[in-house]
Amino acid sequence: MNAAYVFSPNKNVFGRGAISVLASEIKNRGSKKVLIVTDEFLAKTDLAERIKQYVTSGGATPVLWGKVHPNPTDANVEEATDVFKSNQCDLIISLGGGSSHDCAKAVAIMATNSGRIHDYEGVDKVKNAPAPLFSVNTTSGTAAEMTRFSIITDTARRVKMAIIDWRITPLLSINDPETLVSMPKGLTAATGMDALTHAVEAFVSTWATPLTDANALTAIKMIFANLPRAYDNGNDIEAREKMAYAQYMAGVAFNNAGLGYVHAMAHQLGGFYDLPHGVCNAILLPAVEFFNRTAAERRLAIIADEMKFSESGMTNADKALAVIDKIKELKDRVNIPKDLRSLNVSPNDFEEMAKFAMKDPCGFTNPVQPTLAEVIGIFEHAYDYESAMAH
Ligand SMILES: NC(=O)c1ccc[n+]([C@@H]2O[C@H](COP(=O)([O-])OP(=O)(O)OC[C@H]3O[C@@H](n4cnc5c(N)ncnc54)[C@H](O)[C@@H]3O)[C@@H](O)[C@H]2O)c1
Ligand SMILES: [Fe+2]
Repeated sequence: MNAAYVFSPNKNVFGRGAISVLASEIKNRGSKKVLIVTDEFLAKTDLAERIKQYVTSGGATPVLWGKVHPNPTDANVEEATDVFKSNQCDLIISLGGGSSHDCAKAVAIMATNSGRIHDYEGVDKVKNAPAPLFSVNTTSGTAAEMTRFSIITDTARRVKMAIIDWRITPLLSINDPETLVSMPKGLTAATGMDALTHAVEAFVSTWATPLTDANALTAIKMIFANLPRAYDNGNDIEAREKMAYAQYMAGVAFNNAGLGYVHAMAHQLGGFYDLPHGVCNAILLPAVEFFNRTAAERRLAIIADEMKFSESGMTNADKALAVIDKIKELKDRVNIPKDLRSLNVSPNDFEEMAKFAMKDPCGFTNPVQPTLAEVIGIFEHAYDYESAMAH
């Protein structure tokens, strides 16, 4: 079948002050009790207080649950689902980055479906319509406020489960750049590189369409232009706003074209070592695209031409390498750790992580399907870029 589905939230609100629409949106739904799902840091901020006030002025009672772990866990989902049910909530608001949105999506499933969240790993396994979800995004990277993906750590197996279901797409997404200025440099860098990874993986994906291409290419351009600005000066509201749009466009691209082996492998690093998702992606992206360079040569060459990374006389193979070099440059520019070695990742775990990566549904749309030995080889390449390049 060649039918290309397009998934997206019903309503998406952008711009300075956008979060204030929450009050009228809650009133319009007629909600009475709203569970706010957020993490420990954001739970204590003025922003959480403002969200509670919008819930109250929308005519509902807020219940705040602020314990989402970065890389949310199955235990988080169980606890928050109990809070949702025992308070008889009728709406969820996720406040935060990918971790809060993903946890809230999983809670939305478990509010109306039986079993454990593990039962819904994979694509379109959800039976009953999940509880309604509004997502207020405070990072510019994952696009989880608008996707049909929820990534939850299975604490027993130490793997990240990908739950992909169109029904967990939030009903409303809000990207207000005023909520982004507080992001520290490390978070700005990691989430920005996550967004770049989404755009690149979607562009070389086997499911890419003209719609996902347009969004991916624009996102790549905007991230290269604005991530260094937002990194250098977190108060640069224009750069913050452009990054909010760029990460959303990268989300449109991968939500519909899928991802690739960067994410399939990054999920294992995140599950094994609890490392920040964007950092894992930033380190793996050059190694995976180097592995993909022959299969994705024409696609990478288009990125090079569009970005003006290419020069006359270059072959597509040269252009593919130019893109990989520029990605490395951007990653260094925003001070992402050099390689997996500097994250204290152990090569002894590569084989097991590679096995799990091959089962991750995010890898299915990679331009070429690697063997186990090849996945281990990609981990080795990303473990030590300097010596990999010297060979
Ligand atoms: N569902 C998807 O489509 C999708 C896609 C990519 C990644 N992910 C998942 O998203 C998660 C990562 O999310 P993330 O990178 O957005 O970070 P995060 O949600 O894990 O947050 C990281 C830290 O940043 C803090 N923070 C968030 N916003 C802030 C702000 N405005 N100012 C100051 N601090 C702030 C949080 O309190 C937290 O401590 C991973 O678990 C990853 O697997 C999901
Ligand atoms: Fe991601």
